[in-house]
Amino acid sequence: MEVRKVAVIGAGLMGHGIAQVAAQVAKFEVSLRDVKQEFLDNGMSMINGSLQRFLKKGTMTENEVKEVLGRIHPTLDLKEAVADADLIIEAVPEIPKLKKDTLSEVDKLAKPEAILASNTSSISITELASATNRPEKFCGMHFFNPPQLMKLIEIIRGAKTSDETINAIVEVTKKMDKEPVVVKKDCAGFIVNRILVPALNEAISLVWEGIADPKDIDTAIKLGLNWPMGPITLVDYLGLDTTLSISEVLRDDLDPKYSPCPLLRQMVRAGLLGRKTGKGFYDWTQR
Ligand code: CAA
Repeated sequence: MEVRKVAVIGAGLMGHGIAQVAAQVAKFEVSLRDVKQEFLDNGMSMINGSLQRFLKKGTMTENEVKEVLGRIHPTLDLKEAVADADLIIEAVPEIPKLKKDTLSEVDKLAKPEAILASNTSSISITELASATNRPEKFCGMHFFNPPQLMKLIEIIRGAKTSDETINAIVEVTKKMDKEPVVVKKDCAGFIVNRILVPALNEAISLVWEGIADPKDIDTAIKLGLNWPMGPITLVDYLGLDTTLSISEVLRDDLDPKYSPCPLLRQMVRAGLLGRKTGKGFYDWTQR
């Protein structure tokens, strides 16, 4: 089946960027759905901010910006969002029950031939697929932050995902001008987060143990390993809550050795979630 219309469920940090890439690069018609008007407004304002950067850089014209915005249709109505979509990408917060409830509702409202994909960063695709009646038309489609710039998409096969579904998502990925990698077996953390999140957790442990300051850890990794951002800045950028959720999934599904550092848990409890709340390891309010 050829994908022409896409619905993105969740207009947050990932959802807004996914909707933008789908409309801007692949030129799909996109519905963007969230549960509150303020979430939709915030998502559209992030899209607009990102498009303005491309405009300022000269990689897009004013007309193109208008066209992209014209292809994105924000809505609070789930039925309206998914009814005629060929592909529905779920990007709601990383809470298993919330994802499953959302996917189960989407499954009932979507056309029978539509493909459902989750942008989960670690939850089992087979488990999420079980919330729907179309596990063969379900897979993981994991974007990286910021989706507008990061070239990779991990495509994850659940236990029942068909070859046809994987092939269709590979095609969509290419239309978005991204590089697909197929994760052949559903496993917590897939490829990138299996490697990244333990490294981020180790960096937080260095702070917790008083071995070095966040700034020095970031400088060490930026200059010693050529990362574009140091690991502590990256945790703030991704969200401490998201990093904690992924650590917990790795611990529960794979091995206790992936347990999150107590400092990470404490900071999440204190609402220090990073960029999105203005404060994490660093102060983001002035940036
Ligand atoms: N939209 C459009 N353009 C954007 C943008 C956005 N959302 N964000 C940044 N840019 C542009 C800027 O305008 C700037 O353009 P110019 O160079 O032409 O001026 C350029 O990108 C660089 O931006 P900045 O100068 O603001 O900052 P930077 O040099 O640090 O780059 C970054 C920002 C691209 C995010 C870079 O720091 C980076 O690659 N960081 C690492 C990101 C990363 O590791 N992501 C993966 C996280 S893991 C994940 O996502 C998986 C998961 O499940 C948790």
